[in-house]
Amino acid sequence: MIILGIETSCDETAASLIKISNRGEKVEVLSNVVASQIPIHRRYGGIIPEVAARAHLINVFPVIEQAIFSKLSNPQRQIDAIGVTNGPGLITSLIVGVEVAKVLSYTWQIPLVPINHLLAHLYANFLSEKDNQWKKINFPALCLVVSGGHTKLILMKNKERFLELGTTVDDAAGEAFDKVAKLLNLGYPGGPIVSRRARQGDSQAIIFPRPMIKQANYNFSFSGLKTAVKYRVAKEKKINQQFVNDICASFQQAAVDVLISKTMRAVKGFKVNSVLLAGGVAANQQLRQQLAKRITQLSKKIDFFVPPIKLCTDNALMIALATYFKINSKPSLLKYRTNWQKIKVDPNLEINKIKRGQ
Ligand code: KG4
Ligand code: ZN
Repeated sequence: MIILGIETSCDETAASLIKISNRGEKVEVLSNVVASQIPIHRRYGGIIPEVAARAHLINVFPVIEQAIFSKLSNPQRQIDAIGVTNGPGLITSLIVGVEVAKVLSYTWQIPLVPINHLLAHLYANFLSEKDNQWKKINFPALCLVVSGGHTKLILMKNKERFLELGTTVDDAAGEAFDKVAKLLNLGYPGGPIVSRRARQGDSQAIIFPRPMIKQANYNFSFSGLKTAVKYRVAKEKKINQQFVNDICASFQQAAVDVLISKTMRAVKGFKVNSVLLAGGVAANQQLRQQLAKRITQLSKKIDFFVPPIKLCTDNALMIALATYFKINSKPSLLKYRTNWQKIKVDPNLEINKIKRGQ
């Protein structure tokens, strides 16, 4: 089975091709092409949705072409399914990928599968690229998805069943990194820059609040932390490099503490066997290392998974992987044969939420 994944939900235009063989046991990445818009948005210090959508329009066909034509001689015959992100994300960006995928589905008569971008981030954990195999994940698994637009704790009951335990009530974790970088004039995107500067800083230099850390729920809040950084920076008379490094290190530690604390609460509350970290902020070394350490300190053995750095940020390989699992859970690919007509973009696409007593 060959699957084409297409991703345009935010500021990366991406297409990827995977081949599944050996009765589902072997998974090969034939291509994984990402056209980043970072140089465009850097000028504005953040993503301008209208600009992002136009860049997707320019990039989408060359990216898809690059992903498929060097690998397949007759894509129309060889591709078995197309998966495309239909939400959540920026509506004008999503529309580009979804409409292109619909055209391909209709003209090539290939089933089209709508994919939730956040769940796709999780599937980046399933692939072992070294040996072209699936990783063995013991369920139930707890997933922390931390990206530029979302911060969620999700319980994964099996390969295809998800339940949202908690989310951010305001800013996402990645958004907070981006805003802190912006107010320190460090550039865009903030996460990689703040974490680099944090390496030279003292994480204890400034004690920032850890919002909602004590609340007995699985929700997050980052806007108060960002505001605390803003006020602390405004108070400083002379902003030198060491001060900037200390701010970055102290802010990063506050964010990491909250993310880890809530995750550990859910690990215990739901008696999980694995923890999966995913999304752009999962590229953060301190988050990766400190969460891994906390998990090994537990008395029960819990497996910890995190994708390689290049698969933490947006890509279409994760969309292709998610497509495979979605098709697998509903054995008939036929269901998706004329599906293109029904697929709609949904910028606020939700995951089933936990109800009391569940
Ligand atoms: O998943 P992603 O590529 O896009 C969304 O779906 O939003 O995540 C992008 C976010 C940005 O906010 C970026 O600053 C953050 O991930 N990020 C990081 C790091 N690398 C990327 N945040 C903290 N530390 C990093 N090393
Ligand atoms: Zn993402």
